[in-house]
Amino acid sequence: MFKTRMTELFGIEKPIMLAGMNWITEPKLVSAVCNAGGLGVLAVARCTPQETKDFIRQIKDMTDKPFGINQILVGPGAKENIEVAIEEQVPIVNYSLGKPWFIDDVHAYGGKVMGTIAVARHAARAVSMGCDALVVTGHEAAAHGAAATSMVLIPLVAKQVDVPIIAAGGIYDGRGIAAALALGADGVSMGSRFMIVQESMVHERFKQLCIEATEQDTLYDNVFDGMDGRVLKTKEAEAMTKKGFPVVDAIKGAMLVKRVLNLSWSKFVGLTFEMMRAEEGHPMMVLARQAVGNMKHMKAIMEGDVEGGILFAGQCCGGIADIPTTQELVDRIMDEASETLARMNKLDV
Ligand SMILES: Cc1cc2nc3c(=O)[nH]c(=O)nc-3n(C[C@H](O)[C@H](O)[C@H](O)COP(=O)(O)O)c2cc1C
Repeated sequence: MFKTRMTELFGIEKPIMLAGMNWITEPKLVSAVCNAGGLGVLAVARCTPQETKDFIRQIKDMTDKPFGINQILVGPGAKENIEVAIEEQVPIVNYSLGKPWFIDDVHAYGGKVMGTIAVARHAARAVSMGCDALVVTGHEAAAHGAAATSMVLIPLVAKQVDVPIIAAGGIYDGRGIAAALALGADGVSMGSRFMIVQESMVHERFKQLCIEATEQDTLYDNVFDGMDGRVLKTKEAEAMTKKGFPVVDAIKGAMLVKRVLNLSWSKFVGLTFEMMRAEEGHPMMVLARQAVGNMKHMKAIMEGDVEGGILFAGQCCGGIADIPTTQELVDRIMDEASETLARMNKLDV
């Protein structure tokens, strides 16, 4: 037991969350984190509503502990996936990018809503809309952190709001948990670290690349999927930053999304405008850019394609050196966190 406001709110044992990661946080990894005492979160941005339902049911079969789903609100299918989560009464609904319209519906069955923010001024607004907790993402993070690092952002947000704060970005060991608690957080969310565990479906070649990477080996740019984001420094990622945005690929990607989702032109244009208004997005062909990013991510995650693939990854890859089981990892970092806090308590102050 390691009690914080986060563990109390969600009814979990340890203040560690598996960050929602599109493609990667499948039922196997989600349930492994739940069964190890943390909070597993299933990212559903890439799922059809049927897949979302199937995955939620698989998780329910694999664990009796609380779990969450994560949905990026500005993409196609967001509304439908959230509806499924509500029907299935998922205990925790975590959203990023966009405005949540469903908070009362989740509260109605006793669920909790967790907003993800990367800019301090968005914190109070999310809480005023009814969020029960916030994930606060620093610049070090894989994928879509903004300009401020966790060191600056967490205390700023902790001063503004009175709900549990879950620190994301750059955390990979128990010292990181202790530091996050010291900065005002109530727990942590880890993405990159949980990509490199035995239960993760990331291709072994990319797991190895993350282990070999130093803290300098990521790139932060908006060319990868249209929003500022951080990826592992691969050949393809470096080439993308030099070439700029691949217009031809983007148009192909956009057409693919339209076809796969069977969108009418009016729905397609509507979605594109919706994404253009996204709080933290950029007003240019975001949907198409995401499609390009997704295709290259799949090459990395599924095929281990080092030449053509890109992978969201955080600076903390520099500190990741092994591929433990989820249970081993959670136990180890909780021990490290307790040791670190005990050491700090002994300081002569
Ligand atoms: C491959 C990958 C996919 C991700 N997909 C999502 C996503 O679908 N939704 C989301 O809110 N965040 C997504 N993220 C960001 C994570 O939720 C989290 O904020 C980040 O990994 C934290 O930083 P860390 O990697 O330093 O722990 C993704 C991260 C990675 C590595």
